[in-house]
Amino acid sequence: MNQTTNLDHAVVPENYYDRYYARPLPDTPKGYPNGWMSPNDLTLLYNAAYLSTGHVLEVGPWLGRSTTALAMGLRDRQFNGAKPVSFDTIDFGITSAGEWREKFGEELDLGKQNGRVADAVYHPGGTVAVLIQNMKDNRLLPYVSNFIRGDFIDCPIARKYSLIFCDTTHDDAEIERTLPKLAKMAGTGCTFVFDDVITEQRAELICSYLKTKRYMMSIRIFPQRKKFCKVMVVET
Ligand SMILES: C[S@@+](CC[C@H](N)C(=O)[O-])C[C@H]1O[C@@H](n2cnc3c(N)ncnc32)[C@H](O)[C@@H]1O
Repeated sequence: MNQTTNLDHAVVPENYYDRYYARPLPDTPKGYPNGWMSPNDLTLLYNAAYLSTGHVLEVGPWLGRSTTALAMGLRDRQFNGAKPVSFDTIDFGITSAGEWREKFGEELDLGKQNGRVADAVYHPGGTVAVLIQNMKDNRLLPYVSNFIRGDFIDCPIARKYSLIFCDTTHDDAEIERTLPKLAKMAGTGCTFVFDDVITEQRAELICSYLKTKRYMMSIRIFPQRKKFCKVMVVET
């Protein structure tokens, strides 16, 4: 793999980040749920969960595409002898057009993704119910400890995490809202994975809230696949 390491924060061996792509992404019985992450990004999440040394938190599962990759990593980690860890996931869990408007400041587009978004919102129990069903269909429920519905900012979780995946840092305002609390939930040596971070400016802003030792943007590893490699790993 032709890697470019980020030398701003730490000098690491050329192949240092290979561990995040070491194990191929497994298939699931019902496939990965609809969502916004590419196979490369899911592979990184799967490996990050597989390597996790303690509890795992996900902020922003939507219908469980990323959750599936994380739970598969925890399943396989456990299968290979590691002790089970807790995996908590939290989402607004939208149940109506009104909630969509309130949380995202825009109207729910009934045609978005050929109606799949509206179908999930109007499903009995809303998007979290679809998330839980998707995990069940892929036999991954045993690897999720808590499905939490609500705003992450108000969530009373007291646990400290070893791996935190966050899919709610799409602009500076979201980063400034999310990162202070996220930073407090990190245990010693926590690894963070953020989706949709492809500019140095955003990467630096996120890292400024964390005890960052080093970070890696997948777009640096796969520059030719710009559209599909958009996660950032931060090791603290
Ligand atoms: C881009 S989607 C996540 C996609 C998902 N990770 C996947 O793999 O398909 C972002 C999600 O974050 C949730 N979200 C945004 N801000 C949040 C917050 N403050 N608390 C809880 N959930 C939030 C939204 O409801 C939405 O489901």
